[in-house]
Amino acid sequence: TRVDKAGHKHFMAKEIAEQPALLADLIANYIGADNTITLPGDLNFADYDRVLMVACGTGYYACKTAKNWFETVAGMPVEVDVASEYRYREPPVGDRTLALYLSQSGETADTLAALRYTAGKAATIAAIVNVPESSIAREADVVLPIRAGVEVSVASTKAFTNQLAILLMMAAKAAQDRGKILAEGLIDGLRALPGILNVVLDAPDNVQSISRGLAEARDVLFLGRGAVYPIALEGALKLKEISYIHAEGYAAGELKHGPIALVDKHVPVIVLAPRDRLFDKTVSNMQEVLARGGKVVLISDEAGINEFGADAWRTLTLPRVHPTLAPILYTIPVQLLAYHTAVAKGTDVDQPRNLAKSVTVE
Ligand code: G6P
Repeated sequence: TRVDKAGHKHFMAKEIAEQPALLADLIANYIGADNTITLPGDLNFADYDRVLMVACGTGYYACKTAKNWFETVAGMPVEVDVASEYRYREPPVGDRTLALYLSQSGETADTLAALRYTAGKAATIAAIVNVPESSIAREADVVLPIRAGVEVSVASTKAFTNQLAILLMMAAKAAQDRGKILAEGLIDGLRALPGILNVVLDAPDNVQSISRGLAEARDVLFLGRGAVYPIALEGALKLKEISYIHAEGYAAGELKHGPIALVDKHVPVIVLAPRDRLFDKTVSNMQEVLARGGKVVLISDEAGINEFGADAWRTLTLPRVHPTLAPILYTIPVQLLAYHTAVAKGTDVDQPRNLAKSVTVE
């Protein structure tokens, strides 16, 4: 299929804009009108005692987000690793393990090798892929399509949000299969999320002016805790991939064990702070940054910004959502910051230097 930029300046901008519609389609595909979640291959999490998730790059951060969901929503132990490490560790694989391989392209060499390592050992091999006819899909027992359409931009965006949504629906299904009560409003909140993402994408906001500031920086830190810690990692990855600015994502509580040494008035620190049970802790880490003159970009909801935004260099206000859904919502501003920073720097946004869309050699 031929794809074009549909009026956008870059494929990345187009793919960011497509996310609400693709998410809505994905949810409709997996969740019935009565809120029952149906997964391909009749996956039933009562059949497994743990989940292994292996991926590379952006997909690895989707898996790290999902670990949090499976543990908190379904009470299931999860191991997550990057494929290039997992494949050579010779880790033991239990015969009640669901081994999940997540890949946009379905062709990443390390991920395929990790899959082959667990074949015949794990109870089931499942693949979450965007290309259903890919190698990883062919070698899996069960395939869960990402349904993001063709992704052209090397920096992954729409595949990531749909990966997150599939993984969240799997965690919710795991909770149901294992007799756990799902948090109230979670499924309805997920259904409402595409509409909320649309509002965030359409809002006239200050992302572009913040990005012009970021474009001047040599280093940028992204901080988050709990559910949004992996989104801090993803934000840093996106920014470094396309703007070539050194960026690090950090668990906010680890700030004091290293990265705080970098903080001065030249270092923007992007703080992801949804108002969940860890909000106060994240805010106190933000205050440690402010005390050292760091330029904080606080991303939170209206109440969070009203209470703590005054000392920040800049703020971004997001709608309030169910705390479990925050990782998907908070992905949007970090994508937009990376995109507009790269545009401000004039880099080749869709084809960043030294990177490939799919890495089919080791
Ligand atoms: C490359 C791409 C990334 C992607 C990673 C894993 O590094 O540039 O965007 O996240 O490969 O690719 P996969 O297709 O396995 O998800």
